[in-house]
Amino acid sequence: MSKQATLAKHKQEPHELTPREIVRELDKYIIGQDNAKKSVAIALRNRWRRLQVPEHLREEIMPNNIIMIGPTGVGKTEIARRLAKLANAPFLKVEATKFTEVGYVGRDVESMIRDLTEIAVNMVKAEKTAEVQEKARVQAEERILDILLPPLRRTRHAETTETTEQREEENDKTRDRFRQMLRAGQLDDRTIELDLPTPQIPLMQVMGPLSLEEMGINIQEMLGNILPKKEKRRKFTVAEARVILTQEEAQKMIDIEKATKEAIKRVENSGIVFLDEIDKIASARGQASAGPDVSREGVQRDLLPIVEGSSVTTKYGMVKTDHILFIASGAFHVSKPSDLIPELQGRFPIRVELQSLTESDFVKILTLPQNALIKQYSALLATEGITLEFDEKAVREIAKTAYEVNEQVENIGARRLHTILTTLLEELLYEAPNGDIPTRVVVTEKMVKEKLSSIVKNRDLSRYIL
Ligand SMILES: Nc1ncnc2c1ncn2[C@@H]1O[C@H](COP(=O)(O)OP(=O)(O)OP(=O)(O)O)[C@@H](O)[C@H]1O
Ligand SMILES: [Mg+2]
Repeated sequence: MSKQATLAKHKQEPHELTPREIVRELDKYIIGQDNAKKSVAIALRNRWRRLQVPEHLREEIMPNNIIMIGPTGVGKTEIARRLAKLANAPFLKVEATKFTEVGYVGRDVESMIRDLTEIAVNMVKAEKTAEVQEKARVQAEERILDILLPPLRRTRHAETTETTEQREEENDKTRDRFRQMLRAGQLDDRTIELDLPTPQIPLMQVMGPLSLEEMGINIQEMLGNILPKKEKRRKFTVAEARVILTQEEAQKMIDIEKATKEAIKRVENSGIVFLDEIDKIASARGQASAGPDVSREGVQRDLLPIVEGSSVTTKYGMVKTDHILFIASGAFHVSKPSDLIPELQGRFPIRVELQSLTESDFVKILTLPQNALIKQYSALLATEGITLEFDEKAVREIAKTAYEVNEQVENIGARRLHTILTTLLEELLYEAPNGDIPTRVVVTEKMVKEKLSSIVKNRDLSRYIL
């Protein structure tokens, strides 16, 4: 492909957001944490830049893997998740603690690449399906019409050509009429019969923990392709049939092989793996390590080739991990990034610290993001015909309470806002929609204080409730 063509191709993709634009997008969901946003924005843009670089250099440019360090509930996962959405990139979040060293029972680290590939394949398939949706719907409609009005049998001997033509014309008219009724949903409740492939008998259950899935092989699919497909006739309403047949038609229109190839390319060039709890596999070095520490180090060692770049076998084919972006994250309360084995530290060159959230952050988190909690609850209650509003002082009081409980009991960051709001609104959420509840509820500072102060004052109580 010429350079211009490459450029043109990538112009269409969301990667073209500049770092500043990426941060601006992230700002819509995450309050503060500017450094972390900047780092991930640069990492994302660098991937796009890499694709524009001449080929011989392109392969040399490594992703800026990042370690995000910060207490719980301050936005680490949220930043990574939003970033992946922005980039339309295959995204996988895994806990580092989930893995065991190769050779032990449990998930090996390569499985994350297989999972990521699976996600990418589904993503591409969904996109392709959406593209052909309209065509598939029309095809499905025709198939339903075929069932409702079986096509005419051609020329009977006794008939003249004229009468055949006449009959065909009439038939077309009827078909048009039925098509209109079908589109208007007037036939939705009718029952029709469809011949559908019967579901395969699950075979995998008998396999042990070291299943073939781990090797990226799916017996069921292999057998499924060998064994003849059985069909079974079943009854459906027209409405159901439309959904089923549209799906079936869409499947037929998608070139699975091409979709798979595209998915693998997408994993390789824009996949993002979010490795949570990385601090939990770091062990204080220098101390005589034994037992779990040894195996934690083993997991770290297993991670090295994947993070640095290797080929992993998946059931869709080989996947090169060289340019997958890894974002590791952890609180690092007990261990430090320097407790990771040096080789792994070296593969995560960028460190960003996220800050503990303040009271004024909480005020913003409650109100500003597109998915802000207050907006969520207002939307929930709107479905019951209740307008829920919070006056400014009430919001500040909630933020203050969240901050205090975090200080006094345990700092769980923005998640505290969830627990506080559910406690605050419990009665309303329970009673709605009840005649006694006014159609407009304004939460005031006084209400917040009344509801929460007794709980906050009692440390034991707040430990359980908030
Ligand atoms: N800075 C922030 N701005 C807006 N919302 C936030 C912020 N920090 C956290 N939240 C909200 O709090 C919740 C938890 O955040 P998140 O999952 O990112 O925590 P985390 O930092 O990954 O914590 P953990 O270390 O426990 O995994 C999410 O619902 C998120 O929307
Ligand atoms: Mg998290």
